[in-house]
Amino acid sequence: MDKKTFYITTPIYYPSDNLHIGHAYSTVAADCMARFKRMQGFDVYYLTGTDEHGQKLERVARAAGREPIEYIDEIVAGIRKLWDTLLISNTDFIRTTEKRHQEVVQKIFTTVYEKGDIYKSEYEGWYCTPCETYFTARQLDEGKCPDCGREVELLKEESYFFKMGKYAQQLLDHIEAHPDFIKPESRRNEVVNFIRSGLEDLCVSRTTFKWGIPVPFDSSHVVYVWFDALINYISALGYGDPASENAKYWPADVHLMAKDILRFHAIIWPTMLMAADIPLPKKVFAHGWIMLEGGKMSKSKGNVVDPMILVERYGVDAVRYYLLRELSYGQDGAYSEELMISRINSELANDLGNLVSRTVAMILRYFDGEIPPPEGRLQDLDIEVQAMAGHTFTEATLKLEGLDFSGYTQAILRLVSRANKYIDETEPWLLAKDPEQRDRLGTVLYHLVECIRITTTMLLPAMPTLAERLQAQAPLFADPARIGWDQAGRWGLTPPGEQVSKGDALFPRIDIKLWEEQQAGEQPAQAAASGPEAEPAPPEITIDDFAKMDLRVGEVIACEKMPKADKLLISQVKVGEEIRTIVSGIAPWYEPEEMIGKKVVVVANLKPVKLRGVLSQGMILAASSSDEDRWVHVVTIDDDRIQAGDRIK
Ligand code: ME8
Ligand code: MG
Repeated sequence: MDKKTFYITTPIYYPSDNLHIGHAYSTVAADCMARFKRMQGFDVYYLTGTDEHGQKLERVARAAGREPIEYIDEIVAGIRKLWDTLLISNTDFIRTTEKRHQEVVQKIFTTVYEKGDIYKSEYEGWYCTPCETYFTARQLDEGKCPDCGREVELLKEESYFFKMGKYAQQLLDHIEAHPDFIKPESRRNEVVNFIRSGLEDLCVSRTTFKWGIPVPFDSSHVVYVWFDALINYISALGYGDPASENAKYWPADVHLMAKDILRFHAIIWPTMLMAADIPLPKKVFAHGWIMLEGGKMSKSKGNVVDPMILVERYGVDAVRYYLLRELSYGQDGAYSEELMISRINSELANDLGNLVSRTVAMILRYFDGEIPPPEGRLQDLDIEVQAMAGHTFTEATLKLEGLDFSGYTQAILRLVSRANKYIDETEPWLLAKDPEQRDRLGTVLYHLVECIRITTTMLLPAMPTLAERLQAQAPLFADPARIGWDQAGRWGLTPPGEQVSKGDALFPRIDIKLWEEQQAGEQPAQAAASGPEAEPAPPEITIDDFAKMDLRVGEVIACEKMPKADKLLISQVKVGEEIRTIVSGIAPWYEPEEMIGKKVVVVANLKPVKLRGVLSQGMILAASSSDEDRWVHVVTIDDDRIQAGDRIK
């Protein structure tokens, strides 16, 4: 039997300038969906591309002293590179200047004309060139374009018109009969109200410029750029070509876009299809805007963020994750790099990264790196964690089906937090001390491994390199390229006995202080001196001098290498109710994972100091040998009755 098909599209973007993270959002979201559906076993067609005609592009190119196509070719090459960098798995990339597209546009224009739904008349209206849209005087906002707020010009031309108004009722009926046709619901209501307020016929040709597809039977006209562009969704499939194997993908399952162009997709496009006797797409989905300091990021405003640079800085998985995570369903979302860094640090480096590094470190320490089998009777906690994994799978699946990408990532992160809490509750380091609890320890670690396998499987549509990177330290997947979505929904698929190994941090912590300093154009703070050299013995002190020191027991709950510093480790140390960041020059002697779980001695009232841009809030005491190859040993407390925060004197 043939696999079920799934066809998803992004808007085809204007190659008037390089794209920004707003475009990256739509393309990453559609990619997440495409990967999800492939994991579910669908035969997926994922289309993106560029919308290359129209007066604006012609003007931009000429202003740059170029022929339109030369100018556009260059931008399109950059767009393709951007999608490669973001690991976009599109099946096809359509350009409206391609012959395969132009032919279909001309065919449909002719069909609708011959049917009598396109007619010639004269048009006068207020035209906004950046938006490629005519407005009536009534629609203008204080004489300016109601969409972008720019100047409009009064243009009059002989034009072809499409009888859009004729299909208003049919469209309303369709929307009513198909509640999922326009999503989210709030947007559907806007569209319905707009149609009810009356649909006028649509001007679908221009004579004032040449950069477009000629009307086949009247070459002094070019086809209106939106009539042209929307057809990409079927021209890419080889519409009308009996030899095309891709006709099976129509009707599209989802046209994805932001709300700015919903009306074109939810009104013009469906009425065009009705006129051409082509079935309508199943769903038109409009997400919100990524806003930058109060305004929508846009090429025409020039306030854009280049996703290429973000990927270089933070890695492709983290950038994709952040985009999907940040924009709540149907809402606008604010973008800032600080927000992005703190999201990556807290959810990926801390929550997910630590779950993996703690678990791997414990399997190495307690089981020589061999994933232990779950043995013995399960306890309530185990059953609860298993049940939560099952619920999370159901929830993440539903959220993705509904294109709620933020809800999907949040559901998974709740399971990650639950798993971290399970570590604190089961206290494997105590179990490890009691040989009678060996089976119990194995069961706990196995549960953690399964939580990691399940969460990361579900995160694969968002983070395509996660499987391979994780595979390098924990062989949780048989074949990263063939992981099925359902694997995340079944408990117990990891075979015990596989070997884990130490690896790089999955998501290195980003140093926000350093970033802030770089933003301010300052030099990053210098690292501390490399450690005490042979020093003379300090002078005598009194007991009062000593009492000035606040020495406390601290428990290291997370630890990582300081980027670009071979001697420094950054530990997160629990001291009482507080978690402190402490930088220590012990990297030559300790792997970060080894530090985790240690109860150390902290000088708690040492004045905080910035080391390589990280604020170090205290100091971890260590003994160091006086021989030539200095050896360092961190002072630890080895008694379970002593807790983090307890005083040392
Ligand atoms: O409208 N936030 O192209 P376009 C979220 N060629 N999404 C954003 C965004 C932002 N700040 N900025 C852009 C066109 N987008 C037409 C489309 S389709 C037949 C023709 C995304 O380059 C979002 O998907 O202006 C939005 O709808 C699209 O880019 C607009 O891209
Ligand atoms: Mg736009």
